Amino acid sequence: MAALTAKVTDADREFIAKRLNLNEKKLFYGMNLPDQHHALNVAYTAIELAKNYPTVDKEILVRCALLHDVGKQRGDVSTWDKIITVIAHKIFPAKAKAWGRPGRGSKVSNLRHAVYLYFHHPMRSAEMLLAIGTEQKIADIIRLHHTAPLDDDSLELIILRQADDLH
Ligand SMILES: [Fe+2]
Ligand SMILES: [Fe+2]
Repeated sequence: MAALTAKVTDADREFIAKRLNLNEKKLFYGMNLPDQHHALNVAYTAIELAKNYPTVDKEILVRCALLHDVGKQRGDVSTWDKIITVIAHKIFPAKAKAWGRPGRGSKVSNLRHAVYLYFHHPMRSAEMLLAIGTEQKIADIIRLHHTAPLDDDSLELIILRQADDLH
């Protein structure tokens, strides 16, 4: 998890403005600051990693990196619920996944919602992006960013996973 002191600088904002449209920016800035910071770091690292792969579509890759976690929106999950979720996943991954359920309300529902999002945010990110008209190719890559690698994974997906793992 990114530091709680995470900042988004003017240079970062400019970087984002060049690559995301208005609705995508709304989703980006709708994330918590640490998640915004994480997405920026993934994008910068992806650009570095892409230097080893001349055929990669860098524009698609960077847009994927900036948008891959937008399914995690601010106010949806408290920091505390997020911490409990990460611990639960470490101790009993399968049970945690099955216990998750979407929908906020009581304290327990909020925790189940946090657990649900932890496992399902790639799907949710993809759905939110398709709903605002982002390219299918980007949604498809983002949907698979925590899925185990397959032989026919695109280069952009492979690099996104690598960069995500480093942050
Ligand atoms: Fe993710
Ligand atoms: Fe991520």
